[in-house]
Amino acid sequence: MEAEAHVDEAAPADGRDLRGVYRYYELAKRAEWQVRDLPWGEVPPIPEYKGSPQKLARRRDLWRSVVTQQLQADELAVEMATQLFSIAPDHEAKLYYTTMVQDESRHTEGWLKLIHEAGGMAERDPYLDQLAQQVLEADTLEEKVFLMQVFYERLIIPRFRMIARSSRGTVLEDLCNRLAIDDGIHHGAGMAYERVLLEGAGTKVKTRLVDAANRLLPIFTQHALWRPKAREFIGALMRETDIRMLREDLEQGIRLAKSLGIDPSGIELPDELI
Ligand SMILES: [Fe+2]
Ligand SMILES: [Fe+2]
Repeated sequence: MEAEAHVDEAAPADGRDLRGVYRYYELAKRAEWQVRDLPWGEVPPIPEYKGSPQKLARRRDLWRSVVTQQLQADELAVEMATQLFSIAPDHEAKLYYTTMVQDESRHTEGWLKLIHEAGGMAERDPYLDQLAQQVLEADTLEEKVFLMQVFYERLIIPRFRMIARSSRGTVLEDLCNRLAIDDGIHHGAGMAYERVLLEGAGTKVKTRLVDAANRLLPIFTQHALWRPKAREFIGALMRETDIRMLREDLEQGIRLAKSLGIDPSGIELPDELI
């Protein structure tokens, strides 16, 4: 009943229709889970192997490095989601962002526990810090939602699926599957809100988004191709796959920009992809 009453309340009296964003708030509440729901103690935290002590140590470092990067990404996501929550002017969006702050903080909790079980933190990805800095320092809400929710959270989903596929029967797999769902909601909500924010926006606002994308893409590319010491030995092998995925990511980003009414012809591809 309350939801129905709300729908009328959110009807576009001033031309802004936030019902789409409100629906993501309801969806996020239904999809909520707890870190204690993960299969701790029932399955290994990260994949286990047989072989020489050197091989085991190398594999362990590799997975620690994967988990560290995700922990770092979700730590930064807590900051970004908190900022979105505090600056979003609309009631429905604020309500929605309360769920995103909780999600990102729960993700961080899961990664922290997992990294502890996996043997501790590894090397931080410097480009990920720079990416978050760009979002946090972007001038407008339109840019922040575009960079984080429209772009980044969409591109992270196939990566969670890829990690899950290579870590069957572990806590890591379970966590990645949950995060793929949560980030699907974060992305959907961002698309819905960005649409509202861009309604009636002039070319100036949209050009700023293209500029923001052009500042982000080179660093995003560095981030996608970055290999810490622990993963250097598979770096060369993975580079082709990384570049292919990166290209798909960018094509997807361009499709999303188009669907928001942004002219993507001004988006410049990073040198690595030309
Ligand atoms: Fe997250
Ligand atoms: Fe997220």
